[in-house]
Amino acid sequence: QELQLSLEQIEKGGYDHFMLKEIHEQPKAIIDTYRGRMLADEGIIRMAGIDDNLPKFLNADRIIIVACGTSWHAGLVGEYLFEDMARIPVEVEYASEFRYRNPIITEKDVVIAISQSGETADTLAAIKLAKSKGAFVFGVCNVVGSSIARETHAGAYTHAGPEIGVASTKAFTTQITVLSLIALKLAKEKGTLSKAAFQTYLQTMQLIPAQVEKLLEIDEHVKNIASIYKDAKNCLYLGRGFNFPVALEGALKLKEISYIHAEGYPAAEMKHGPIALIDENMPVFVIATNKGHYEKVVSNIQEIKSRSGKIVAVVTEGDTTVKEIADHVIEIPDTEEAFTPLLTTIPLQLLSYHIAVMLGKNVDQPRNLAKSVTVE
Ligand code: G6P
Repeated sequence: QELQLSLEQIEKGGYDHFMLKEIHEQPKAIIDTYRGRMLADEGIIRMAGIDDNLPKFLNADRIIIVACGTSWHAGLVGEYLFEDMARIPVEVEYASEFRYRNPIITEKDVVIAISQSGETADTLAAIKLAKSKGAFVFGVCNVVGSSIARETHAGAYTHAGPEIGVASTKAFTTQITVLSLIALKLAKEKGTLSKAAFQTYLQTMQLIPAQVEKLLEIDEHVKNIASIYKDAKNCLYLGRGFNFPVALEGALKLKEISYIHAEGYPAAEMKHGPIALIDENMPVFVIATNKGHYEKVVSNIQEIKSRSGKIVAVVTEGDTTVKEIADHVIEIPDTEEAFTPLLTTIPLQLLSYHIAVMLGKNVDQPRNLAKSVTVE
């Protein structure tokens, strides 16, 4: 029997959709992104774009991160990383707001523009504005030679490989990887992290790809959860600290490809509005890893429970407290708090993917959305 495969099937490498392929490519994409840059055994992070411009970063009054969409969410994780590790004040801006706000920018600012495509019109315009005010602009792009890569003074590529699915997956985790490397490098140069802590971070980062791989193996469990909640009309995503941006990203993934209304919120803000929406028809996805405000998130989960909300919690392996309260738990391997977004993101991507497939949506090309937004 003749085996006929279309070009598209070949490109999908045996997966039903590009999005699923790209989700599964993340272990490799993360390695490709830190390979040659992070020399864990030698305790070195080498990044030409930073090394060549070190004084700019070390003397910066602040870092302003500009981006759109998923890249903006990566920028929010970057804020937590830079402030926590390198003690540099950070502002994260939607490029579209920043460019029209008459923002205060000086020569002592470093602007980091994050963009998968490197072609987003608003991000490009924000870069041009920052340059005109004398700021040093650093790009974090995936597409080599893209407009943003060319327009910035220096940069670091995410080596995620081509991302075809409109909903960004591996670009997000590799953006976070690059931002982690930059934060760690600056922390080392500034002396804001002890040598031992720096070394621990590097060793821990090396474990991430295998941990992502392990998480991808629980796909059936996530699929089962997806089948239970696929008909929800609204969903809430909650997270705190490093995982607040992951809550936003989880909600965005669901909206983009399944067209289910979803909102991401910092867990503690729940009492200022979203709690009014919680009833037995409201699934709430809560990121409750063992570090960073764990007890506080547990009390949020109790509040959801007492209002009959359905709880799907992303917890650290071995958790027992949340398991008793939540309707479902998804376990992630233990890691440093700062790196948890690289893991907690994975099941939320899979969940959105399975819900969209079950609802018969066009996963790789959702309606009304474009992969690269080159117009305002
Ligand atoms: C579009 C895409 C998103 C992406 C955003 C920013 O909306 O659909 O997936 O996050 O643009 O794109 P960029 O290429 O600048 O990261």
